[in-house]
Amino acid sequence: MAYRHVSAMPNEVMTCLACKPGGIYVDCTLGGAGHASAICERIMPDGTLIGIDQDADAIANARNVLAPFADHIHLFHGNFIHLPDYLDQLHLPTVDGILLDLGLSQHQLETSGRGFTFQKDEPLDMRMDVRTRTRAEDLINQLPEDQLATTFWRYGEERWSKRIAKAVATARRNTPIRTTGQLVQLIRETVPRKSAAKQKIHPATRVFMALRIAVNEELSRLAEFLNVAVERLHPNGRICVLAFHSLEDRIVKQHFKQLSQRCTCPPGIPECRCEGRATLRRVTKKALRPSTEEADRNPMARSTRLRCAEKLAQEGDANGSR
Ligand SMILES: C[S@@+](CC[C@H](N)C(=O)[O-])C[C@H]1O[C@@H](n2cnc3c(N)ncnc32)[C@H](O)[C@@H]1O
Repeated sequence: MAYRHVSAMPNEVMTCLACKPGGIYVDCTLGGAGHASAICERIMPDGTLIGIDQDADAIANARNVLAPFADHIHLFHGNFIHLPDYLDQLHLPTVDGILLDLGLSQHQLETSGRGFTFQKDEPLDMRMDVRTRTRAEDLINQLPEDQLATTFWRYGEERWSKRIAKAVATARRNTPIRTTGQLVQLIRETVPRKSAAKQKIHPATRVFMALRIAVNEELSRLAEFLNVAVERLHPNGRICVLAFHSLEDRIVKQHFKQLSQRCTCPPGIPECRCEGRATLRRVTKKALRPSTEEADRNPMARSTRLRCAEKLAQEGDANGSR
């Protein structure tokens, strides 16, 4: 099956990553391998690309797309939180750049058949990595009502979270909810018509987003990843993150901000006691957004926010050696 995905903000990503010929780069979210191909074109013939994706379809596709660079790439099927293990396996203490393009590929959304979309009737699965245990169906049928409501609110900012959770809890007593179609129908019957008509988005959008985030533990893994990734950047190496909703972007923004501050003492302390040093320099002070032309051409990229930061050299860093 052909793998479809149009890369978001390709020119801006390449400008931010500033790939050096011969450098070592990691694409932590290969997807359709569009960004990975662009990186390879800039770093070859002597560079190295490490590619990661937790979706087996993306890895199979990347093997084809990146075949011309086969001798210089290393692909890993797994979660990007395992980046340190993968780099250790390759005996690479640090790298020149790391790219994270979060969210779903067009393939996952439109053709994977795993229930990521409310536009089709599919099994309620939503796992990006089908080797993991919990599917959306398990959460919908097993989480207590109050935890369902919290999930819809926390990860989807769904204003009717309690009402929808109650409707789910009532409906599943009679028949388990196993398909996206059943869930969409339930949400349509639960969200007040006036409210649904006023919203510019489909009434199931937020619940679907919340379930996907919960199934794939997206936010906790992102925060965990950012902590370890910066440690594996070479001085002057760059990290670029494309986020697709405000919850993700907030985590990236706060993390970059915190690591780019010299002093991390609590406010009100008269003198700095932490002797803190900034680890990062923010290359983008504000998130970059796609041009109107790109947003029209590639609607999936519309809500993208791109942030980039550069690792600062610290005293004692060996200059230029990895
Ligand atoms: C938006 S697509 C990436 C598109 C890619 N940059 C391109 O140019 O084609 C996001 C990809 O990230 C993968 N992904 C999301 N979270 C991940 C994680 N925690 N670990 C590994 N892969 C992840 C998804 O499976 C998906 O294939």
